[in-house]
Amino acid sequence: MFLSRVLVVGSLVAGLTLSGCKQSMDQSKIMSPGITVSEFGVLPDGRAVSLFTVQSASGMEMRVTNYGGIIVSLTAPDRNGVQEDIVLGFDNLEAYLASSPYFGAIIGRYGNRIGKAQFDLDGATYTLAANNGENHLHGGIAGFDKVLWDAAPFTSGEDLGLVFSYTSPDGEEGYPGTLTAKVTYLLTSDSRLSFTYEATTDKATPVNLTQHSYFNLAGPSSDSILDHELMIPADHFTPIDAGFIPTGLIQSVEGTPMDFRTPISIGSRIQAEDQQIANGLGYDHNFVLTDSSSSLKLAARVLDRKSGRIMEVTTNEPGIQFYAGNFLDGTLIGKGGHVYPYRSGFCLETQHFPDSPNQPTFPSTILRPGDVYATQTVYSFSTDAE
Ligand code: GLA
Repeated sequence: MFLSRVLVVGSLVAGLTLSGCKQSMDQSKIMSPGITVSEFGVLPDGRAVSLFTVQSASGMEMRVTNYGGIIVSLTAPDRNGVQEDIVLGFDNLEAYLASSPYFGAIIGRYGNRIGKAQFDLDGATYTLAANNGENHLHGGIAGFDKVLWDAAPFTSGEDLGLVFSYTSPDGEEGYPGTLTAKVTYLLTSDSRLSFTYEATTDKATPVNLTQHSYFNLAGPSSDSILDHELMIPADHFTPIDAGFIPTGLIQSVEGTPMDFRTPISIGSRIQAEDQQIANGLGYDHNFVLTDSSSSLKLAARVLDRKSGRIMEVTTNEPGIQFYAGNFLDGTLIGKGGHVYPYRSGFCLETQHFPDSPNQPTFPSTILRPGDVYATQTVYSFSTDAE
């Protein structure tokens, strides 16, 4: 009984042996100090899905599954040290399988949209799965958010992590080439959650990997993100048409509701009479980070004054999508039976710009054989009491 329920989680955990795994009443096992694994459910094809609980030295706890690399829960302390869950999600695998707006998931091969689900590359035209009207969104019908990743927990000093690996076959969702992808999550002892994305391919293909966690820093009982104060150091953004596809322009934020260079509440201009707010149904836009260096730089900072929680996003990507949860409509029942109303979570998706394969003036997203795709994004948590 015991052995049949032990999950294989890779060899990176220092000193891990089966006999070293402790099993609690709920069948979870300690894989290494700070990381336990339990069963999250079974996919329709019979494959078992795991849920890893990562307990950082700083007191933060992350629960993450190898289905889509989904972060199911993530706690952070408020200014009084009270840990609360700050991400949206579901209690069980069935709910994620039934319908999820990419809650907490790894997004790939291409985060965001590719117009008309088509692009030309090296003289050939490729047609992708159209899963958002006539457009391609977040990797297609079964993107990287809906695949089962191999997961290997590891420790690095006091920091705890998981390496997720997935090989995307040639032609998957219409993309050329076999793509070997690896995403490393690391929860550090100083309250940072780091994502390192790596990929290689055997044929030229677009790649744009990101993470789609929805945050509400006010905690699980909060029904709105409109009071959160946001800062994005971007002088420009990429305006979109009514189908959310970039027009190709790089537009100044000056004098528009897209100007977040000085911290301002998300709700203050979200109803503004503005063509871009209308096209995005609120904020659903890619910001062009003013610091275009390929080193880690600040991409966003969010403060919730009620709890005092602060989240900072750093990345070496050139852009960040700010999405204000405009498609949440009160129909999804989340963790603990909590219904997620309109704009009750926000996403800050670091990325290359949407529709880059069709936009010659945007930085290229094409990965070629022999090249290594490597990007990093870090969410850092602190409070206004520090
Ligand atoms: C992204 C997109 C949004 C929406 C959400 C998922 O952030 O930019 O338009 O599709 O994902 O609902």
